[in-house]
Amino acid sequence: RLASRLRRARDLRDEEKLYRHRGVLYPLLMCPPEHLSALEGVTAREDDVLLVAYPKCGFNWMVGVLKQILTQAMGRTIDTIMPPLIEFFGPDVAQVMDQMASPRLLGTHMHPDNIPASFYANKSKILVIFRNPKDTLVSFYHFCNSNPVLPSSTSWDSFYGNFLSGEVPWGSYFDHALAWEQKMADPNVMIVTYEQLKQDLGESVRHISSFLDVELSDAQVQLVSDGSTFAAMKESSQMSHGPMGNIFFRKGEIGDWRNHFTEEQSHKMDQAFSKHLAGTRLGRLLDY
Ligand code: A3P
Repeated sequence: RLASRLRRARDLRDEEKLYRHRGVLYPLLMCPPEHLSALEGVTAREDDVLLVAYPKCGFNWMVGVLKQILTQAMGRTIDTIMPPLIEFFGPDVAQVMDQMASPRLLGTHMHPDNIPASFYANKSKILVIFRNPKDTLVSFYHFCNSNPVLPSSTSWDSFYGNFLSGEVPWGSYFDHALAWEQKMADPNVMIVTYEQLKQDLGESVRHISSFLDVELSDAQVQLVSDGSTFAAMKESSQMSHGPMGNIFFRKGEIGDWRNHFTEEQSHKMDQAFSKHLAGTRLGRLLDY
């Protein structure tokens, strides 16, 4: 499937790689319209774990953490499809999901209002990972330049402008953030940040495990943390993500934005952050 996507990507011009669905841009080769419309037919389970992230907020990091937590909890490797993004699964997403054994680890980059309602109605555990918008933007920019299915010829300045106006795949960072802010009181939703994981991975593993009602021993927490460091995940990226796995593990640091943003760009982003998220719980969590 990857080889055929790459062949098709070579035949597309940059402007043909994205299309608009309900006003938001999506990558045509990964999630064409028939994949998105098929999501309406999926049935969630109470023991599903749905990982949600705006692109480049640390989705793959959290996939690694969750896979290991669930594997420790179950005493066996759990059944996952990589990447576990349900909008990539295809027009038969409902059947594909039905055939997966519980507990299912699923994921999405979709805006919370576009996530299949069944996940909320059936009380799946929804874990959301966010990251400060400056590093998210930098990571997104580099990812577009290294992933052939996404447009790559945009300059830094124009990508910066597109990010702020939401003209990037999966839409506006701030729209996603504001919508999650509304759901923070839902007991089945937990929001963690990339920065929290960086600060104390072991503590984050404990926190996430208890949200999932999984009890891990100190030794198990240590095993999961050791297997989820940037170095460990980068090293096994070809095994976990296939031949292009390295593009998901670029630098893995906080603050790379300082190497990219001009002072004016930084200031403008600060203003956008304050306008949308000042005084909110998510804004505080991001410790911006
Ligand atoms: P950088 O591009 O800043 O390095 P996503 O998985 O949502 O696409 O996010 C990718 C970002 O998460 C990349 O950021 C990647 O390097 C970082 N990342 C992945 N695994 C990580 C880990 N174990 N520790 C820290 N950062 C990690």
